[in-house]
Amino acid sequence: MANLMVIISVVVAITWSTIAVAYEPSPLQDFCVADFNSPVTVNGFSCLDPKQVTADHFLIKGLNIPGNTSNPLGSFVNRPTVLEIPGLNTLGISTVRVDYAPRGVVPPHLHPRAAEVLTVLEGTVLVGFVTSDPENRLISKILHKGDVFAFPFGLIHFQQNIGKQNAVTIAFLSSQNPGVIAIANSVFGSNPLINDDVLAKAFQVDKSVIRKLQAPYN
Ligand SMILES: *[C@@H]1O[C@H](CO)[C@@H](O)[C@H](O)[C@H]1NC(C)=O
Repeated sequence: MANLMVIISVVVAITWSTIAVAYEPSPLQDFCVADFNSPVTVNGFSCLDPKQVTADHFLIKGLNIPGNTSNPLGSFVNRPTVLEIPGLNTLGISTVRVDYAPRGVVPPHLHPRAAEVLTVLEGTVLVGFVTSDPENRLISKILHKGDVFAFPFGLIHFQQNIGKQNAVTIAFLSSQNPGVIAIANSVFGSNPLINDDVLAKAFQVDKSVIRKLQAPYN
């Protein structure tokens, strides 16, 4: 009986801790616009004197302007974070516009601090994310204009314009500073490079293949 109570207590504790983690922290004031000049170090930025705060601290213009997709990926990401919109500080949210040339990709990447919800404004976009080890299941969909798709927190995901015209997406991320880990850049383009024997063993290929993958970053 005592053992059963311990098990129930543990289950209840785990359930509650899971619920607690799912909550956003309650705001303690209307806003905390980032003060980039403050010497105080906190998680995020300390607050500007509210009397100095203006509408422009919450504003960025230009997300209507298409990005230049003439690059090897054929995509352009405009991702204003708290650094561009200081009013985002402590709000746990930010936005991103992506332009895609036909076949343009946002290559496999993850956001270490955010989930994401993406809306297609123009075009036809293949999206997908992969569940964590050991399942590694690809969950993928072809999206059309007006479709909204969610990428779970911290999972590897990608987008590609599979239409004949340019595509545009807008997304919202659950962090003022979501961060990006682009898989290829991290694994093959780190500075300094990861030892090629480590990568050859990890990917079960010859070192020459690894050196080829590292070449664009050298
Ligand atoms: C787009 O980028 C390419 C490559 O950097 C450049 O040659 C071109 O002038 C840019 N186009 C515009 C409209 O800025």
